[in-house]
Amino acid sequence: MREFALPEIPPAFELRESLASPRRWLITGSAGFIGSHLLEHLLRAGQEVVSLDNFATGYQRNLDEVHRIVGESAWARHRFIEGDIVDPQSCRDACEGVDIVLHQAALGSVPRSIEDPLRTHAVNATGFLNMLVAARDARCARFVFAASSSTYGDHPGLPKVEDRIGNPLSPYAVTKYLDELYAGVFTRTYRMQTVGLRYFNVFGPRQDPNGAYAAVIPNWASRIARGESCFINGDGDTTRDFCYVTNVVQANLRAALVPAEGECHDLFNIAFGEQITLNQLHALLGHELQGLIPGLAVLPPQYRDFRKGDVRHSLADITKARKRLGYAPTHSVRQGLHESMPWYVQQRDAQGVPEH
Ligand SMILES: NC(=O)c1ccc[n+]([C@@H]2O[C@H](COP(=O)([O-])OP(=O)(O)OC[C@H]3O[C@@H](n4cnc5c(N)ncnc54)[C@H](O)[C@@H]3O)[C@@H](O)[C@H]2O)c1
Repeated sequence: MREFALPEIPPAFELRESLASPRRWLITGSAGFIGSHLLEHLLRAGQEVVSLDNFATGYQRNLDEVHRIVGESAWARHRFIEGDIVDPQSCRDACEGVDIVLHQAALGSVPRSIEDPLRTHAVNATGFLNMLVAARDARCARFVFAASSSTYGDHPGLPKVEDRIGNPLSPYAVTKYLDELYAGVFTRTYRMQTVGLRYFNVFGPRQDPNGAYAAVIPNWASRIARGESCFINGDGDTTRDFCYVTNVVQANLRAALVPAEGECHDLFNIAFGEQITLNQLHALLGHELQGLIPGLAVLPPQYRDFRKGDVRHSLADITKARKRLGYAPTHSVRQGLHESMPWYVQQRDAQGVPEH
């Protein structure tokens, strides 16, 4: 069978140089956490960006924050489309004249998908397919998409290596795996360039701390900053390979810009490549926040049952991304937490601290 993998990165490849020529990008999910960071970075780098979101889990305030950070002249290179990827016409409108697609829009969260598999499927599978079709028809040069470490499912091997996956443990994981399969088929059938990035627990500023489906770091950061105690699902020895969002931005830009001839399809783990337990994470967060909020008392966590669909341990092998994308994560978990916690403290201050 023909290999469609990306070749090893040429030694002369320079991300900064490659970003010097202006291109037209499409970011889906730009009002969300990761999408808003991609938007911020590309506008700062002088690129032209179209972005699409329907505010299902993203916020106008994230777009406003990027607007404030990049300033008026950079913001003028951005066109926002409020639209839904489940609607094929919105996808077609968004892809028009675009060189590179960074597809982030999806409904995240394993528990959400267990409660409402149909909605998760509509957005993450049908919406994904709509985007692939639109990118194919608009002849976009490359389609980079947010895949997920949940694809490893029940495979016991550690660290996780791209070609060894198990059975999915949630409807969310099924949709993310299906996306990979569809991307491969579009490469083989329609000669597209598709690259999937399997993110491992990403965190950073603008990740939503609110709601039932909040990820662990924003949820705990906001609880600790308010003097509340956190819930740990299980015994706290569950491990994750947390990845700061700046590393994820780098991975996307590399996946979009590394040279490749003709059609290609590849998948990469995107993580920092280190495992930490939830107990360690809780201690690190407490330490960072105590450095920012004088006199903050960090309450001990409360332990409760393991959560359905969660994997016990997670650690990525990032060798492949290093070799083929030149991916070199710049921020460890500790550095990432250090950079992100001031944002969570600002949110707390803006919303007011509850009386206990
Ligand atoms: N954050 C993580 O740890 C993580 C890990 C693995 C994979 N991912 C994937 O990365 C991507 C971005 O995740 P995130 O953490 O930034 O989540 P997020 O919820 O902050 O962002 C997703 C964005 O997509 C938008 N969206 C949802 N449904 C849409 C639709 N039908 N049409 C248009 N826009 C829609 C939301 O409004 C939101 O702004 C997702 O594909 C997610 O599955 C994230």
